[in-house]
Amino acid sequence: TDDKMKGNSTILVTGGAGYVGSHTVVELLNNNYSVIAIDNLVNCYSNGQNEKPESLKRVEKITGETVTFYNVDIRDREALDKIFKLHKIDSVIHFAALKAVGESVQIPLTYYQNNIAGSSTLFEVMAKNGVKSLVFSSSATVYGNPQFLPITEEHPTGQGCTNPYGKTKYFVEEILKDVCASDADWKVVLLRYFNPVGAHESGLIGEDPSGVPNNLMPYISQVAVGRREKLTVFGSDYRTPDGTGVRDYIHISDLAVGHLKALEKMLDPSFASWKAYNLGTGRGYSVLEMVKAFAEASGKQIKYELAARREGDVAACYADATLAKNELNWTATRDIKDMCKDTWKWQKTNPKGFQKS
Ligand code: NAD
Ligand code: WQD
Repeated sequence: TDDKMKGNSTILVTGGAGYVGSHTVVELLNNNYSVIAIDNLVNCYSNGQNEKPESLKRVEKITGETVTFYNVDIRDREALDKIFKLHKIDSVIHFAALKAVGESVQIPLTYYQNNIAGSSTLFEVMAKNGVKSLVFSSSATVYGNPQFLPITEEHPTGQGCTNPYGKTKYFVEEILKDVCASDADWKVVLLRYFNPVGAHESGLIGEDPSGVPNNLMPYISQVAVGRREKLTVFGSDYRTPDGTGVRDYIHISDLAVGHLKALEKMLDPSFASWKAYNLGTGRGYSVLEMVKAFAEASGKQIKYELAARREGDVAACYADATLAKNELNWTATRDIKDMCKDTWKWQKTNPKGFQKS
């Protein structure tokens, strides 16, 4: 069938053991792709340096397929080169990065080294081995403080990136544009994620933040499960309907499918150079709307207190997702109820994440 033709290629997935990576690997395997996952285990749980990360063991359980895994750092040129020599890789999906906004302000050089130097090393090894097709995990953070809503791909980038993490996304986008300009063989899709949340419907994989969660959804679900006492709502005086921040939350499995659509797009003979796509639902929800939806999905009361704004936060941010719909044939199919229900299933069956379950 047509669907069978689409897969059948081998995808190298960097950061494949992480949150977005593991969910994308599920969709790849379910659609006939072979996957080589690499990860340096800096932000995922493994039972030992030589063990496959727990997330990927669960992926194998969900799909009944095997994931080839290497504990490799994207900054390790020789180790990367070996992998490209050992496997016939058709395309790369590049997730590996550090992603904590607050931490990036404290240790900017670590972020620039890991996310920028690491990415450019990966691109060099790819080019050397003749692999010039890439999907990059970018972020709505490249748009900075929105000048208009909903945000289209035409919105200026780089201007309002206030933290080093956000700048690494913007800089890597710019590096890739230069690479494409220098060599017509390169094909690059920049996927600008809005706010990924939720978990695989099986409850076997999900987001597993270490320490106190920085992001809203993991925090709410840890309150629901009794690991945290109450949510602190950062700001209730924004110019939004209820005064709290508004974001475009997108189910992780929808986001994952977006990567397969991007791979298919690059096979299109008319696709050349690079193209950026927003991955979001196009609809914003406030912090208090999320709290309410999660309380309904979990049957738990979510205690919260209103507090001051968090530095660097914007009032509202949501996507115009029309371009992805028209050009990638992709659209989000799961709503806020699904996002909360699936997060809760993952949280409740794995209260301490991957480590102690
Ligand atoms: P994650 O931390 O769960 O996954 C990233 C993985 O990369 C981790 O398993 C980590 O161990 C690995 N990694 C980090 N540095 C590495 C290196 N030098 N070499 C090899 N592996 C390395 O994060 P995630 O939420 O899955 O994010 C995936 C990508 O999507 C990142 O690039 C992130 O910046 C981007 N992104 C995430 C969000 C979000 O809210 N989750 C939003 C927009 C963009
Ligand atoms: C969402 C809303 C908070 C926590 C971040 C990165 C962005 C991207 C996605 C990677 C905001 C409020 C949060 C809490 C709260 N990541 N909130 N109490 O800030 O939109 O985006 O993750 O690229 O770059 O900046 O997501 O989940 O942190 O916050 O009230 O304890 O929830 O103020 O309005 P954000 P978030």
